[in-house]
Amino acid sequence: MKPLNEIFEENSRWVASKLEKDPAYFDKLAAGQNPDILYIGCSDSRVTAEELMGAQPGEIFIHRNIANLVVACDNNVNAVVQFAVEHLKVRHIVVCGHYECGGVKAAMQPSDMGQLNSWLQGLRDVYRIHQVELDAIDDESRRYDRLVELNVREQCLNLVKTDHVQRAWYKGGHPQIHGWVFDVRTGKLVDLQLKLAREFALLRRIYDLRPIG
Ligand code: CO
Repeated sequence: MKPLNEIFEENSRWVASKLEKDPAYFDKLAAGQNPDILYIGCSDSRVTAEELMGAQPGEIFIHRNIANLVVACDNNVNAVVQFAVEHLKVRHIVVCGHYECGGVKAAMQPSDMGQLNSWLQGLRDVYRIHQVELDAIDDESRRYDRLVELNVREQCLNLVKTDHVQRAWYKGGHPQIHGWVFDVRTGKLVDLQLKLAREFALLRRIYDLRPIG
C-alpha cells in the first residue's frame, strides 16, 4: 500500500501524461460525459471497473457496493439507475460480479455481522431461491462460484423490476441488461450470456409497472 502523499505524486504524473498526449484532454473531460454503459460492480478493491475493461474517464457510469446488489429500497442504486437511463440514456446496464467475492462467502456462512446482516440478506435470499441447485454442488469453491453467477443473474432480474428501467423500455426499448463475472484468479472478464427472456415474461406478470389504460 502506497503512503497517501505518493497518491498525489502519482496523480501529478497521470495529469502530465494525459496532457502530453492531448493538451486539451481535461477541457474535453470538463465539457461533459456521454457514457453508453452503466456498470454495477462490487466494492472489492481488486475489481476495479475501468482498468479491467481498458476504459477511459467519461466512458462508463459506475456504481459499486458490496457484492454488486440491486436492492429495491436502496436510494443510492435507484438514483444511479434513474440518472443513467433517463439523463445519460445509457444503452447497456452491466451487473458484474466476481469470483472470490468476500460478500458472497460471508453470506454463505451464517453469523451476526452487524450492519452487514441486512445488506447480505439480499444475497442469502439468492441462496434460498437457488438452494436445491447450490446444495447439490459438493465442491465448496465451485458452490461459491455458482452463487456469484446466480447472484449476478438475480441482480439483473432486480433491475428489470425497477420502474426506471421499465419506463425506459416502454419508451425506447433500452437499456439492454448484461450479467458478467470478473475472474480475479485469471483476470478474465466473462459474459454469462444470460438468457432472461423466460424470466422477463414471468416477471412481467408480477412486476409490470406500466400504467393502466
Ligand atoms: Co465482492
